[in-house]
Amino acid sequence: MTLSIQEILNRFWQQYYSENPAVKKLYDAFLQREPSIINDHIALRTFNDPRVNINILAQPFISNGYVESGEYDFPNKHLFAKHFEHADSDLPKLFISELISEKFSPALQKIVADCIEKIPTQILNDPEQLILSGVQWQPLSYATYQALLTESEYAAWMYAFGFRANHFTISVNHLTSFKNLEEVNLFAKALGFKLNDFDGEIKGTPEELLEQSSIRAVSVPVEFVDGTHEIPLCYYEFAQRYQDSNGKLYQGFIAASADKIFQSTDVKS
Ligand code: NI
Repeated sequence: MTLSIQEILNRFWQQYYSENPAVKKLYDAFLQREPSIINDHIALRTFNDPRVNINILAQPFISNGYVESGEYDFPNKHLFAKHFEHADSDLPKLFISELISEKFSPALQKIVADCIEKIPTQILNDPEQLILSGVQWQPLSYATYQALLTESEYAAWMYAFGFRANHFTISVNHLTSFKNLEEVNLFAKALGFKLNDFDGEIKGTPEELLEQSSIRAVSVPVEFVDGTHEIPLCYYEFAQRYQDSNGKLYQGFIAASADKIFQSTDVKS
């Protein structure tokens, strides 16, 4: 199977839009004001196991012309990330992070290894399938989810939701009826959404050439063997980029800001 980049992005979007009622509501509201929505980036999450790590998830994008363009460390969350860009600037950048499992307890490492073991070989051998394969380690246990949560919110999210787009990000630069990120934030709040306000609603500054904000992930019911529980799924992000001293729009990411954006799926907040 070889999908075009547009087909891959459409699949991510269809899953994200149809399974997140909050995303649908917000996107539809933007479309009332905007002729079209351009995505700044989409973000994927994974584990650093060589069978499913960043380099594996990136393969379908690289074979479609995406190029590795930056690396980021998140020492507090024990995450590593890379971003990828396409020469066609209307295509979203790709941000893939991975959990550095060996930084955690043997118990967490065992859970992660068991999950990956359960992914059918046919899916492991086909990154195009893997990137959208969700959870292949059913049945889920709420006790396991909670155990993961004590060590890593990220690990718990991956356990519950698996391989999918964690978020899409609207490019504020491409919006025609909003002056800046602050106006976008006001619009989202007026629709009733709660913003991730960890260390302020806007992460980053014009001087850093990137400002980002996001709504808090809205909880959805997830079926576990030990009952159905509401847990935070995906969020929607907004990004406004600024020109560097050469007049070129900055295309990278700011690790300190991304670190705070990760909190958007935080259960405790
Ligand atoms: Ni993002």
